[in-house]
Amino acid sequence: MVVEMLKKIPEDVIESVRKANDIVDVVGEHVQLKKQGRNHFGLCPFHGEQTPSFSVTQEKQIFYCFGCKKGGNVFTFLMESEDYSFIEAVSFLAEKSGIELPQVARKQETALSQENETILSAHEWLTKLYHHLLKYTKDGKDGYHYLEERDIKEESIDQFQLGFAPNVKYFTADFLEKKGFHQQLLVKSGLLTLQQDNNVTDPFRGRVIFPIRNHLGKTVAFGGRAIAGQEPKYLNSSESDLFQKSRILYNFDIAKRHIRKESEAVLFEGQMDVISAYQAGVKNVIATLGTALSEYQAKLLKRYVDTVIICYDADHAGNEATFKAATLLTKVGCQVKVANLTKGMDPDSFIREHGADAFENEVIKPSDTYISFYMKYMRKDYNLSVEGDRIEYIQQMLKQLALIDSSVEREHYLKDLSEKYDLSIETLQDEILVLRQQRENHKDKSQQIRYTKRAPRTRQSKKLLPAFQNAERQLLAYMLQDKGITDRVQKEIGISFNLDIHKVIATYLYAFYEEDPHPNVSKFIERLDDDELQQVVIEIAMLHVIEDTNEEVITDYIQMIQATTKDTLRIKPFRDQQRLAEQQNDPIKAAEIAMQIIEIERQLKSTK
Ligand code: GTP
Ligand code: MN
Repeated sequence: MVVEMLKKIPEDVIESVRKANDIVDVVGEHVQLKKQGRNHFGLCPFHGEQTPSFSVTQEKQIFYCFGCKKGGNVFTFLMESEDYSFIEAVSFLAEKSGIELPQVARKQETALSQENETILSAHEWLTKLYHHLLKYTKDGKDGYHYLEERDIKEESIDQFQLGFAPNVKYFTADFLEKKGFHQQLLVKSGLLTLQQDNNVTDPFRGRVIFPIRNHLGKTVAFGGRAIAGQEPKYLNSSESDLFQKSRILYNFDIAKRHIRKESEAVLFEGQMDVISAYQAGVKNVIATLGTALSEYQAKLLKRYVDTVIICYDADHAGNEATFKAATLLTKVGCQVKVANLTKGMDPDSFIREHGADAFENEVIKPSDTYISFYMKYMRKDYNLSVEGDRIEYIQQMLKQLALIDSSVEREHYLKDLSEKYDLSIETLQDEILVLRQQRENHKDKSQQIRYTKRAPRTRQSKKLLPAFQNAERQLLAYMLQDKGITDRVQKEIGISFNLDIHKVIATYLYAFYEEDPHPNVSKFIERLDDDELQQVVIEIAMLHVIEDTNEEVITDYIQMIQATTKDTLRIKPFRDQQRLAEQQNDPIKAAEIAMQIIEIERQLKSTK
């Protein structure tokens, strides 16, 4: 697939974009890197870990995680971390380094239909129009005053491109018509609505506009807040190819950076909460658009962070929604915390009343763990002054606590229960033990909700490979960084590597050097149209190779590979016969041949 797309941007342009963007800088914007020896190390952004096994090499311009095995070049990094397509990644870096991409390439940037391109463009124009009207015109002053009343700063108005849809019947329609958009399409996309008198009008008229951006920062919908008691309070664009509420998180494009940096995301129910928190300095903030958190959104978050702090309204509905969202987030593997919001407040009103510092220090920092929240949340279902209810409640809590893998954490809550309900901690401990044993016996642990972070994956110990396989990998590692060695190997071995995947890599590499004699792993992996192949090459490229090439070492590797090939050749006819015997349903013959093979292998070994 990558190869397909490559045709659309000329190679030399891709090359200059690559040269202009050092992978250490690009990755460094997402991951804190520390130089260690010749590599930079950091915490892998693609899987949760506590000890860094994610490495970037400047000299080879590639990254590789020893934990989760993801690897690639500067483009692949953005494709993985930002959900970009290859073209999007190249365009992004081109723009950043002031390189102009040819027109053809830009057209291909997104695989959108012409129609959707037009709709996006209409959204872009309208975003600008609404924003301009709000800030500078009399038609927008009602909106401006409304935001002022709500303490929204000028800076936030700009950052979130807030606007106002004027309460003038044909204003928007005329504007879009003058820009050359077809009415029919605008109606179809929901930007305009058809009235009974067959005229079109702007459905957002008289509302403050919150542009809703997708992960690429493009406006794909609007949310409109009533400012004069109109119903509904919030009006959202209707759903379309470009906009699905359950797949978008408000402000995700901007918050992403901060979410990565903080290793936490704060999740709200509404746009106003996001904006309020953002201008109060809490920037790792996103919101659903008035709908329950969907599994898609939960999984999206999980790709970026381990911990999500839910900060919904502190009322009954908010509590119920928190429980649902928490359950879903836990299910997809997130750690959940619940913000400590005063009863009756929503985040926005709290910030306005108590200020930014209080929000950070009294709401976000002292967030409850999921279990503490759960203990409080479940209490409402029981009348704890009645003994029967109380026992049932405690049983229910113990069941949850039994799911916690860390004994320290478990003890913490047990102590809490024992103190609150005047029970001996030993009794509770015994009970937990029984529950945990039952759970062990059930064994379908994958189904269990896990509250405790998986143990960090430690750096993978080097796999013990058969000597010939190791030789092939080492040799390929040399070849990746040295054309001279590659020429020699091509002459002496050709593609007679023993492992098929090594044959394939060698073939690609010979072709690569034919076109371009300069070693360039980052560029080379783009030629490989297969993820597994790319991964193996990166793994090999990360092998430590000594700088001063020692001819003898190379000779040793070559000889070992040739010897293995010869051995394989000797055994091959036997293997063929064995397969034939199996096909002919002759197990006795097959077994006889198997024994012959073992004998030959033994002989081969003893002659070495
Ligand atoms: P403000 O009243 O402006 O402070 O907004 P809020 O965030 O406090 O609103 P609320 O808690 O009532 O609702 C949370 C989110 O649900 C809002 O931000 C909207 O996205 C959404 N929402 C609220 N009311 C409506 C509505 O009437 N229709 C739709 N479609 N969404 C709504
Ligand atoms: Mn509110």
